[in-house]
Amino acid sequence: MAQVEEKLIAANAALDLIENGMTVGLGSGTTAAMFLRLLGERVRSGLKIKGVPTSESTAQLARELGILLVSLDDQPHPDIDIDGADEATESMCLIKGGGGALLREKIVAFASRRFVAIIDSSKLVKKLGKFPLPVEIVPFARSLVADAVVDLGGKPVLRQANDGTAFLTDQGNWILDCSFGAIEDPSSLASKLADIPGIVEHGLFIGLADQIIVGRNGSAVRLGN
Ligand code: A5P
Repeated sequence: MAQVEEKLIAANAALDLIENGMTVGLGSGTTAAMFLRLLGERVRSGLKIKGVPTSESTAQLARELGILLVSLDDQPHPDIDIDGADEATESMCLIKGGGGALLREKIVAFASRRFVAIIDSSKLVKKLGKFPLPVEIVPFARSLVADAVVDLGGKPVLRQANDGTAFLTDQGNWILDCSFGAIEDPSSLASKLADIPGIVEHGLFIGLADQIIVGRNGSAVRLGN
């Protein structure tokens, strides 16, 4: 089945989790955008929710769809957060940040009472790491962080925008896409990365997802609670 159809199936299944009056973390990326469009239809039919966007592009789309936005300061604990992922395992570990929004995505996932990842079946893997791990860095520390990533066995590549300049995150930071190969111990890698000064955040989401909804063969398969 086409990836796009599986994403839509997962997005549709997540919509069933949204109830009137909820504050909803709004993820970033193409799967999250599908969810957002479906949510926008419900809002136009009378559903009352507030959204906390995880990126400027999500905020813009949500506004176009008529979804009321609030900040994390206004609503520090959204009832639920719905977001995509680049890779996921059955042990509920994720790689995120392919779209460059990992920092706000992780903040909102952490803050939310429930975090549900929505993916197509190609994202479900036995081991994380085929997708290069996005690491958001302070530009000043680029060489230091790149060297430290190499010491950890990774190959860092500075992400570029379409015009060939360094890709800028919503925070004005840069991203190193780091190929580690199969990541045998995501928790250990996560803590080693967290110890490197100059890394603002990395795209390993461990212990954050309550549920992963996988669009697969025409139906939605749920992992977790
Ligand atoms: C955005 O920064 C990412 O974390 C996305 O959630 C991730 O890249 C998945 O994107 P797609 O839904 O577009 O595959």
